[in-house]
Amino acid sequence: MSVRPVDLVARFGSPLYVYDLDLVRARARALKAAISHRPFQPLYAIKANPCPAVAAAIVGEGFGIDAVSPGEVAMALRLGVKPELVLYTENNMDDGEQAEAVAQGVLITCGSLSRLESLGRAGVSTCAVRFNPDIGAGAHEKICTAGPLTKFGVHHSEIDAVLRVEQATGIRVVGCHMHIGSGILDADVYVRAMAVILSVAEKLPHLRFIDFGGGIGIPYRADQEPMDLARLGKEASRLMAGVCERIGRSIELRLEPGRFLVAEAGTLYTTVTSVKTNPDSGRTFVGCDTGFNHLIRPAMYDAYHRIENVSNPHGVATKVDVVGNICESGDLFARDRVLPEASPGDLFALRDTGAYGFAMASTYNLRPLPAEVVIEGGVARLVRERQRMTDLLNAWSW
Ligand code: LLP
Repeated sequence: MSVRPVDLVARFGSPLYVYDLDLVRARARALKAAISHRPFQPLYAIKANPCPAVAAAIVGEGFGIDAVSPGEVAMALRLGVKPELVLYTENNMDDGEQAEAVAQGVLITCGSLSRLESLGRAGVSTCAVRFNPDIGAGAHEKICTAGPLTKFGVHHSEIDAVLRVEQATGIRVVGCHMHIGSGILDADVYVRAMAVILSVAEKLPHLRFIDFGGGIGIPYRADQEPMDLARLGKEASRLMAGVCERIGRSIELRLEPGRFLVAEAGTLYTTVTSVKTNPDSGRTFVGCDTGFNHLIRPAMYDAYHRIENVSNPHGVATKVDVVGNICESGDLFARDRVLPEASPGDLFALRDTGAYGFAMASTYNLRPLPAEVVIEGGVARLVRERQRMTDLLNAWSW
């Protein structure tokens, strides 16, 4: 069966998310190959792309799941992941969510001292704690998740308070966690934060694992270099060896990437609906049949996604703004992008949209969610139908 983009769109409609499962598996294997420390337990941050077929491909490579909500825990368990391989990294969870997670048998990573106390008082025997190493990173300030301006984790200097809660309630902190940000391409900043976390981890008497979080970036732009995974893996393994030696026992290493595993495997195909030029500014707008309702990253983080004109790859290079069909001026995929000349009906590919694409989609302007297709061994399979207008409207009581 053909997996040519035009055939996919002819079959499944436009706009369309398509994920290459073979590439997802290759990324999962590359991560495992970069880490020599044992034991090593990789987790998939399922928030990046919760499509069950995508997550199942990663779980099939031996990954557990990093979950951040009851819905993500439910998805992980439904995928058949054992509760002990699901880590629930909470952030402002409520007491009902805590009780549900405890009943499900998943380990909770506490993001605050009050949540740790709450778990301890509830008689929960083990948990992890997320620490803020005061070193944040990331491709945009909105996705930097450590340092003084962020809501996440327990400040690393509060380790004594954590130990006091352990002693007072009997809860054992078996995991030490950090996640400093997303879209990190510089291995050095990651390594510096790891060193801070290790100095905290060594003080935890019941420690079984250290989780350095996710955050590994991908080169969205042609001039960006991928993160030096070999260096990251070498440093993580070296730091872990030092900790194990000082503590005198073996400690498991965990990493929980999302983007690295799935971003490059995803493409959002969209059809050009109009091309027009403003006579004053001379600006040419290429309009598409999708918008920030389906891919919010450019509008939200000024994110860059490569765009290809699949229908006319060799057309005359033209500088254009690529815009969507949502009624907001911020509905912009690219400003001043040089692309082969486009006409209505052309198929565009928005690349590297496998992470935080569909996962962040909405039905703003009452536009239905797009369909999702996976490709595996050269065969395409529909895994989520385009949302029907009737389902969208019937969500309300009439
Ligand atoms: N672990 C925790 C606790 C997280 O909060 C996150 C992401 C990850 C792991 C995975 O991070 P990754 O490896 O994917 O960088 N919507 C944004 C990204 C937000 C990430 C939030 N947390 C974007 O589109 O760039």
